[in-house]
Amino acid sequence: MSLRLGDIAPNFKAQTTAGEIDLYEYLGTGWGVLFSHPADYTPVCTTELGKTASLQAEFEKRNVKVLALSVDPLDKHKGWINDINETQHVTVGFPIIADEDKSIAHAYGMIHPNASETFTVRSLFIIGPDKKVKLMITYPASTGRNFVEVLRVIDSLQLTANFSVATPADWKEGEDVIVVPAVSTEDAIKKFPKGVNVVKPYLRYTPQPNK
Ligand code: BEZ
Repeated sequence: MSLRLGDIAPNFKAQTTAGEIDLYEYLGTGWGVLFSHPADYTPVCTTELGKTASLQAEFEKRNVKVLALSVDPLDKHKGWINDINETQHVTVGFPIIADEDKSIAHAYGMIHPNASETFTVRSLFIIGPDKKVKLMITYPASTGRNFVEVLRVIDSLQLTANFSVATPADWKEGEDVIVVPAVSTEDAIKKFPKGVNVVKPYLRYTPQPNK
């Protein structure tokens, strides 16, 4: 059975470019992004890891630790990081796991045999402070992911973890949010003093509560 939203993210110990890491110790009480890529020294992966490195301060601001993974060995990762830093004009500051025995890839369902028997696909998991899986996305090898979108989802998850709201399509930090159906309009008016815009009884907007 593969992982599903709300499941506990399996803990593991892994060899990484920053030494041995225990996932739960590495995450501590914060959030995590664990993402796999098919292989080192490949073009799309190079841009993905470069983009993630360039957004390091954005992840830190949100108390998110990042961890990349492929089934390539550690020495290959280390050599490739030099190329990423050189070509993407960054300093990769997050660890890359060398999952040579594929144990983590299997635990997280990162190998999709009908896509590739040997390599991990582009899986990405957001893990909450409770160690539960909050988001899972899977992209094919040929399509690089949008890491600004990953930050946007983290903003939504961190907001909705603290307030009785959800975020609409294409929402960005600072925009109006949606009152969840479980809250009556009467209670919403008390709960959200900035105002509630009732478009339909089931579609109610309020300004972002923590802004
Ligand atoms: C890439 O990262 O460019 C890539 C990796 C595997 C298959 C296709 C592209």
